[in-house]
Amino acid sequence: MSDFDQLVERRGTDSVKWDELAQKFGRADVIPMWVSDMDFPTYPAIQRALAERAQHPLYGYTLKPPDYGAVVLGWLKRRQGWEPDADALVHVNGVVRGLATAVACFTQPGDAVLVLSPTYHPFRAIAEHQGRRLVEVPLAWDGRRFVIDFDAVRQAVASTRVPAAILCSPHNPVGRVWERGELLQLGQLLLDHGVLVLSDEVHSDLIYPEYRHIPFASLSPEFAANSVTFMAASKTFGLAGLQTSVAIIPSPTWREPFAAMQDALGSGLVNTFGITATMAAFRDGDGWVDALMAYLAASRDLMLQYFAEHIPAIRPVRPEGTYLAWLDCRGLSLADDALPRWFLDRAGVALTDGRDFGEQGRGFQRMNLAMPRPVLHEAFGKIAAAAQA
Ligand SMILES: Cc1ncc(COP(=O)(O)O)c(C=O)c1O
Repeated sequence: MSDFDQLVERRGTDSVKWDELAQKFGRADVIPMWVSDMDFPTYPAIQRALAERAQHPLYGYTLKPPDYGAVVLGWLKRRQGWEPDADALVHVNGVVRGLATAVACFTQPGDAVLVLSPTYHPFRAIAEHQGRRLVEVPLAWDGRRFVIDFDAVRQAVASTRVPAAILCSPHNPVGRVWERGELLQLGQLLLDHGVLVLSDEVHSDLIYPEYRHIPFASLSPEFAANSVTFMAASKTFGLAGLQTSVAIIPSPTWREPFAAMQDALGSGLVNTFGITATMAAFRDGDGWVDALMAYLAASRDLMLQYFAEHIPAIRPVRPEGTYLAWLDCRGLSLADDALPRWFLDRAGVALTDGRDFGEQGRGFQRMNLAMPRPVLHEAFGKIAAAAQA
């Protein structure tokens, strides 16, 4: 089992999170709490499987092993109570790549793509680069957490033709794990208006112990037939550099054109190490993920308590899933451009600016909690010192 308190030096490994700091933020002497990437060594069985595969000196084109589908399905059944057909599984080289393929496949230039905002920024990039219109429906704050504004969704899909919506479940950046009732209401609304659901469930195994992820497509055969789901071992086990993910597309109506679009784009081939790592993760990584989430839950609780006691001007939204925390920084009364600079120059931490997630992110910052707790303590102390200066 991993020691999540262990700090492993990542500088000099071409890590985006660590080695891009100077280029991205203008200084490298800050604690990187930005891109969603964990600083924990992965599940040891994954490292062993990769080392074993690396020993064999040929790295040519690779098939998915015959039991790959069964291993993925076994994970989904055990962890999420979901039993899609084996036929529904389609290999994709990364979730963002899969979403981009789906948008290219199921929408036309000029079409609207609906998202709930604040929204994970690559969704916007995909829509904009492909000449689609991003329709952002703001989440509402109910005094405790962000919730879906169903009237606003209804208005959006009734007022213009929307062929597809990207659902982020759990939601990055606000950390919501959508409840059954919310998913049912949203799914029905989208089904009634002919909106295909592209459900990004890459964070679906990063659920705090008091919550439960419900796969959108597991809710009903109708929802399954109206959805394309993406998931992976990448976020959960810290394997994002291997770019290996799964699309789950129960209906051939969507699956066949999706596969054809992958061919058209020349994507969909297997990454040898990505498959090896995913197999090792999903075969028996359950205990490791449970330990990870227990560790992250304690980190989250520490953050909530620490900020309430020492940094009341910054109010973290309590995440239900993901290792990301959405910080309401409006209490600092800083101008838009001054806010990220305050965290960098005064506190010495690099966060993701809320404005990257759209207009709804103004006054917010996203903080990555997936670091050894001694580093979190240091970061919180630095933010407190800046706030109290
Ligand atoms: C919601 C969401 N989708 C997708 C991704 C990235 O997935 P991939 O690296 O497989 O493209 C991330 C990474 O942070 C994410 O937060």
